[in-house]
Amino acid sequence: MHRFEFNDIDKLISMVIGQTNTGLTQAALEAMTTNETLWFRDKYPFDILQDTLLPELSKKQNRIRIWSAASSTGQEAYSIAITLAEFQKKHPGAFSHGVEIVGTDLSTEVVTKAKAAIYDELSLKRGLTEYFKKHYFEPASGSSMRVSQALRDWVSFRSFNLTQSFASLGKFDIVFCRNVLIYFDVERKDKILQDISASLHDNGSLILGASESLGGASKKFTMVTQASGLYYRKV
Ligand SMILES: C[S@@+](CC[C@H](N)C(=O)[O-])C[C@H]1O[C@@H](n2cnc3c(N)ncnc32)[C@H](O)[C@@H]1O
Repeated sequence: MHRFEFNDIDKLISMVIGQTNTGLTQAALEAMTTNETLWFRDKYPFDILQDTLLPELSKKQNRIRIWSAASSTGQEAYSIAITLAEFQKKHPGAFSHGVEIVGTDLSTEVVTKAKAAIYDELSLKRGLTEYFKKHYFEPASGSSMRVSQALRDWVSFRSFNLTQSFASLGKFDIVFCRNVLIYFDVERKDKILQDISASLHDNGSLILGASESLGGASKKFTMVTQASGLYYRKV
């Protein structure tokens, strides 16, 4: 309100909803979203990726497409890229025809940061081992580090609202949609999960946040429980 010189909250809300000022609407979206994220968040999704999903996919195809559907500042997408690079070290030739990781987020501010791939000392401390820092990062200014060019080549980011049509995104083998469904009401969440199902190849996999569940879209997926945690398979 201060930045846009409003003293009437109702007027501000009606202008944001009416989208009469794109700068204001975007600023309100940036202020309302929570961008909290970290490297290898919850660990188990990346164990499932490394131990189950990548071995299975690498046996039947030589390229892979993964979507980080609320990528925030990029740590999730780059953690997926590191997991893939580690998998390729153990299985040379896997996915030799191409790796593509697409990160999307509503907030243009976080998309800009994710594209830059530069992280300060504090964010580097949140979930990254020294081994990963040594192998997948290069020095940037001061104590910041940048994700290596080889990983950045695999990953792209764009701003995208999960409530819009998914048609432009194409199909994926795996979707990470983590810690974002909490923002939506039941109907909207159900629609997004149905759209995610449609954006997955047959037998594709979905990984949700640790405290999230499918709700109404459960007919579109079956739950697969593993010792490390659970994920969902398109039916
Ligand atoms: C808490 S972060 C989660 C980041 C990451 N997936 C993780 O689990 O660490 C939630 C992200 O969802 C994004 N978001 C919120 N509403 C969205 C929407 N309608 N479409 C796309 N992204 C959205 C926010 O901008 C924020 O960056």
